[in-house]
Amino acid sequence: MSITTRAIGEPLDRIDGPLKVRGAATYAFEWPVDNPAYLYPLQAEIAAGRITAVDTRKATEEAGVLAVLTHENAPKLAAAGDADVAALQSADVAFRGQFIGAVIGETPEVARYAAGLARFEYEQRPHDVVLAADRNDLTKPVNAANFGTGGGELQDGSPADSLIGDVEAALEAAAFTVDAHYSTAINHHNPMEPHAVIATWHDGQLTLQCSTQGVHLHRFLVASAFGLDLAQVRVISPHVGGGFGSKVYPAAYLVVATMAAQMLPGRPVKFALTRQQMFSLVGYRSPTLQHVRLGADDHGRLTAISHDAVAQTAKVKEYAEQIAVPTRLMYAAPNRRTTHRLAALDLPVPTIMRAPGEGPGMFALESAMDELARACGLDPIEFRIRNEPEVHPESGLPFSSRNVVACLRQGADRFGWAGRDPAVRSRRDGRWLVGTGVAASSYPSPRLPGNAAMIRVSEDGRYTVAIGAADIGTGAWTALTQIAADALEASVSDVELQIGDTILPAASSAGFSSGTTGWGSAIYEAANKLRAQLDSEHAGVVPPGGLEVTADMPNNEFFGRYAMYSFGAQFAEVRIDEDTGEIRVSRLLGVFDVGRVINPKTARSQLIGGMTQGISMALHEQSVIDPRFGHVVNHDLAGYHISANADIKAVEAYWLDEADPFVSPMGSKGVGEVCIVGTAAAIANAVHHATGVRVRDLPITLDKLLDSPAAA
Ligand code: MOS
Repeated sequence: MSITTRAIGEPLDRIDGPLKVRGAATYAFEWPVDNPAYLYPLQAEIAAGRITAVDTRKATEEAGVLAVLTHENAPKLAAAGDADVAALQSADVAFRGQFIGAVIGETPEVARYAAGLARFEYEQRPHDVVLAADRNDLTKPVNAANFGTGGGELQDGSPADSLIGDVEAALEAAAFTVDAHYSTAINHHNPMEPHAVIATWHDGQLTLQCSTQGVHLHRFLVASAFGLDLAQVRVISPHVGGGFGSKVYPAAYLVVATMAAQMLPGRPVKFALTRQQMFSLVGYRSPTLQHVRLGADDHGRLTAISHDAVAQTAKVKEYAEQIAVPTRLMYAAPNRRTTHRLAALDLPVPTIMRAPGEGPGMFALESAMDELARACGLDPIEFRIRNEPEVHPESGLPFSSRNVVACLRQGADRFGWAGRDPAVRSRRDGRWLVGTGVAASSYPSPRLPGNAAMIRVSEDGRYTVAIGAADIGTGAWTALTQIAADALEASVSDVELQIGDTILPAASSAGFSSGTTGWGSAIYEAANKLRAQLDSEHAGVVPPGGLEVTADMPNNEFFGRYAMYSFGAQFAEVRIDEDTGEIRVSRLLGVFDVGRVINPKTARSQLIGGMTQGISMALHEQSVIDPRFGHVVNHDLAGYHISANADIKAVEAYWLDEADPFVSPMGSKGVGEVCIVGTAAAIANAVHHATGVRVRDLPITLDKLLDSPAAA
């Protein structure tokens, strides 16, 4: 065994960086393949109803067209249970933009042109696409979408409702209360790389070179849909240009591409969604309507917390996320109520998007906390510290580690919070009103099942480490190499990592801020097994031909005994033009409690990336549905603004120097999502401080400042 470099904690450059800057990292659509065909989708032109007639004659006869797929000739799927995946199985139209077919041509141009020649007739029924909190058909979630566990659960497995004590009586008796409604917009993930696949059917084997957050989950679901053995399907995805949740669950586009590949055996079928198609085919963050009521006593101690959340799902499939679940754990209070309700609409199915649930939910809770601090006459940091729980307030479990107070205190120091005048409109710089705000952050740090890792050591002391993990831009290539080097007591230069392929040992998807925890735990286990085997069977010397072990990630014995979350505190300074309402976030500073940091460089990138996306969520991102047609009107990057360089000023991310003893053997916790949680509230609280206007509806656009009379 070679050198002892304790690689965890080193700010290593990205291992995949040189490949990426040279354009040599192969993304899904770029694999060199022989004689490809190209797929262009056909999408429903109505929001609800059924197809009554199909005329694809002209399209089929167009020179260069290889095949035209519709529900009339598409193969029947073996397991069409998941309506989100079951493309082209009937004449029904469940939302505008749904797949109703595809044209496969010799060139992308021919396929796209011929797609315009296909004709569909419909029988339309009235569609229902408007979310409202006073709808009389709201339902309590029945199924945990995408997991199919069923039984009144949310996407994260939490119960939909929770009630402790007597909230109404406590609110009645409270010295100070807040009772406010908050709402958030539809957001679309818009990763830089669109969803793309090259599907090849050859000798009964399916290969999908696609852009995914999890090769093994994609393989499982596509194989199930087509009734194939897992061994017949290979999914390859070493580099991914972002996902933000939209590439966790395989969407129907993979099913359509696979059907096309089966119709054209031996020919690779290439399909990349356009930006506009991504607005109806690959999920989105549901809008939310939230009602928060808080009560506090004379000492600024919370006596009641109530958070009711309404979101939308699709009629075709239920998806329900944990909007009010962070409210169950953030603050102590004897009386507590959280509920989740859904409206099922004629729209595409929402899916997880960076901090699903927690992102919108903590906007409401942390805005309300600011409002109540003000009502109590307390500094918002002091108010939060007074209500810090010792254990999880509902389950009673101790936290594996929880340093919200330290994040608030360190953040206040770094930001320069001391001496802040709490009065609104108290700071001005010429025509700019200046304000500051704070909010807390939290996101679970779970470990998903289904991870294994292989490690092989060769006689020259070099290691190959393999696991079907995904790097969606997070830095997993680098962090996992460091974890392996650390566990093997080897130099990172002696470790070669392999990820992103189903021929490698199984891995959970890059989601729920769990990747490093789960994959790293499997690698740790394999490294321990290898070292133990070398010592016990080979006297510490690599035998001729090398040695190889594979190990499953062990169950975390602390699961169920500790509540495991990452935390943080974010501070925003905003400047608002008094005349135009123009909003600038001049400073954003976060301090995070994410356990031991594996790589300070990539972790910092994750943190400032999430904070930047939080600014975007706070000020810009909003998909607008036209209720007449049921589609997103601003379905491109011109109409759907995402924070660009000009929108972002100073963004600083720090973390506490703490290792979590229970989440993983590395001491790390999840990094990727906690950083977008709370950002929007910190900004909304700063906007209120600057202007006296409390905006409770995201995004905070300038019209909302100009229309509202400033409160004193
Ligand atoms: Mo993340 S929304 O769990 O990919």
